[in-house]
Amino acid sequence: MTGLREQLETVLARARRRSDALTDCVDERDLVAQHSPLMSPLVWDLAHIGNQEELWLVRDVGGRDPVRADIDELYDAFKHARSTRPTLPLLGPAEARRYVAQVRDKSWDVLDASTFRGSPLERNGFAFAMIAQHEQQHDETMLATHQLRTGPAVLSAPPVPVAVSPVRDREVVIAAGEFTMGVSDDPWALDNERPAHTVFVDAFAIDTVPVSNADYAEFIDDGGYRRRELWDERGWRHRTEAGLEAPQFWTGDGSGNWWRRRFGVLEPVPPDEPVMHVCWFEAQAYARWAGKRLPTEAEWEKAARWHPASGRSRRYPWGEDEPDHTRANLGQRHLGPAPVGSYPAGTSPSGVRQLIGDVWEWTSSPFSGYPGFRAFPYREYSEVFFGGDYRVLRGGSFGTDPVACRGTFRNWDHPVRRQIFAGFRCARDL
Ligand code: AVJ
Ligand code: FE
Repeated sequence: MTGLREQLETVLARARRRSDALTDCVDERDLVAQHSPLMSPLVWDLAHIGNQEELWLVRDVGGRDPVRADIDELYDAFKHARSTRPTLPLLGPAEARRYVAQVRDKSWDVLDASTFRGSPLERNGFAFAMIAQHEQQHDETMLATHQLRTGPAVLSAPPVPVAVSPVRDREVVIAAGEFTMGVSDDPWALDNERPAHTVFVDAFAIDTVPVSNADYAEFIDDGGYRRRELWDERGWRHRTEAGLEAPQFWTGDGSGNWWRRRFGVLEPVPPDEPVMHVCWFEAQAYARWAGKRLPTEAEWEKAARWHPASGRSRRYPWGEDEPDHTRANLGQRHLGPAPVGSYPAGTSPSGVRQLIGDVWEWTSSPFSGYPGFRAFPYREYSEVFFGGDYRVLRGGSFGTDPVACRGTFRNWDHPVRRQIFAGFRCARDL
């Protein structure tokens, strides 16, 4: 068993290697450019990562002097909308790199000196783990920026190993009853995952695998985007105004053949991959077309964590062990999701596959706090988003690092967003 300090060193160093890889592969012009009004320039993400680390590790936990007290405002995500960030007097690429390195040097000293006792922030290394998760979340955001970037490919990774083993059933039934949702005793869980609480869930059926590109193409061929009755009012209005006709990054040749651009590579849409880059409204319309619906967040978590034999909820679908490459496609090891039916070793006790990794999965649920929620360590991580126009996504994607992914982890976004690495699976009432 490695010690806590070594574990924290590992996750912090891994996050920094990824931030470096995502920013070293493009030139300076690319780093400061805005590739989409939905995204920050990559150089903003980089310095924001350093600034959060400075605020929480260097100043708060470490009680040290500021590295740069003058730039907090520039890198406060609530002060400037993403679309306006390119116009700010940001640190340039070289300056931003120097800044994050200076902060990290101080963080190593703070980590060396920490007893992991005392304040709730320091206890069990929470603040360090929170900062590693924060950096990795921005690394996934930067990967989405790369996907929106035009021009030749700059990222490379080995292809996903194809190790599909057929699923016996298209869907499985999860019995009615209570289960434990959320967690109280996971020291690195973020505030919105807490506290553990009991939820009664009616019996339901859930798909064993995510909806594939082939499935989704059938919906398109069957007039899914033209059939008003498949969409709710707001979804239809959005479909019409945004001119949605297919997932983002797909182009059709008009005779049913689809191509897609991924990280600068144009290729035929692979039929067996989980569909990605669809918004919540598209996912909902597909589910209605299939005679199904999206799972609620509680249903998703019960399908992933509930162990019928013991009645307990576990950290991952496969148990308590950390994710590895036999169980889930995480951590930007590959530049896309694995075909549906992959990772049999990651199956949940209920028989559901690929819940962790590959693609984030839209649920039907709005984002809110669990009973007994307490903001920690700052309201702006979760609480200010509760009750807003967000839907919860679960499970992580190929772009999510294991440190920021577990059976209780909650992500959220606006229902119109498509640039995230999100797909979905369907569920239905019995
Ligand atoms: C949890 C992914 C919605 O990117 O807005 C990053 C994560 N919070 N910095 C986001 C986050 C503060 C957050 N999401
Ligand atoms: Fe952030």
